[in-house]
Amino acid sequence: MNLPKIHSISKKILVALLGAFLSIFLLFHASANLCLLRHDGGAWYNAFCDFMKGNYVIKVLEIGLLASLLLHIVLALWLAITNKMARPKGYHKPQRSKTHTGSKLQVWTGILLLAGLIAHFMDFYFVKLGWVDGNLNFYEQAHEKFQIPHIAISYLIFFVVVWFHMRHGFAAIFQTFGLYNYKYGKAIEVLGIIYATVICLMFTAVVLGVYFGL
Ligand code: HEM
Repeated sequence: MNLPKIHSISKKILVALLGAFLSIFLLFHASANLCLLRHDGGAWYNAFCDFMKGNYVIKVLEIGLLASLLLHIVLALWLAITNKMARPKGYHKPQRSKTHTGSKLQVWTGILLLAGLIAHFMDFYFVKLGWVDGNLNFYEQAHEKFQIPHIAISYLIFFVVVWFHMRHGFAAIFQTFGLYNYKYGKAIEVLGIIYATVICLMFTAVVLGVYFGL
C-alpha cells in the first residue's frame, strides 16, 4: 500500500504540537468541571454548558479540538507502526533507556486513553449529539453517573491512565523540539509530573466530591 509520504520528523512535530494543545484543553476542561462541586443545582455548570452550545466560535473550536484529537491519535499510531516496521527485530542489545520504555508505554496508555474517552463520550458528548440516551442537563447527568460506584471507579482509573500519558507526553514535547537535555531534563520531568498531577487531581476531586456529596 502506498501511504502518502510525510517525513517522520514532521509527524513527530505535529503529534507534539497537537499534544500540547490537548493538554491546554484538559487544564481548561478540568477547571470548568470544578463547577460541578458547587451546590447550586447546576446553575453555573449548566450556564457554562449552554454557553458552549450556543456560541459559533466555540463550535469551531470544538471541531478543531476533535480534529486535533483524531489527528494526534492517527499520527502517533502511524509513527509507532512505521517505527516498528523499520526495525521489526529490535536491537541486538535491548534498549533499556528511560525514553525508550516511556515511548513504548505511551502507545499503550494512548490506546487505553482512547477506550476511556469513548466511554466518556457515551456519558456526555454523544448524549449532546443525540446518539445516546441520557440527561441533557449535564450537572444532573454527572451527579447520576458519578454516584454509581463502578462508574466512579472507572473514571478514577481513566484519570490514572491520563496521568501516565500526560506525564510522559510533556517531556516528549520538549524532546521533539530538542529542548530536553542534561541541564533541563530533570526540571522538565518535574514540571510534567506537576502539570499532570494538578489536572488529574482536579478531575479526581470532581468525581470524589460528587460521589461523597461533598
Ligand atoms: C470529572 C471528569 C470529567 C467530566 C465531569 C467531564 C465532562 C464532560 C462533559 C460534560 C462534556 C460535554 C461538553 C459539551 O460538549 O458540552 C465533555 C466532553 C469532553 N471531554 Fe470530558 N469530562 C471529564 C474528564 C475528561 C478527561 C479526563 C478527558 C480527556 C482525557 C476529557 C475529554 C473530553 C473531550 C475531548 C470532550 C469533547 C469535547 C467537548 O465537548 O468539549 N474529559 N466532558
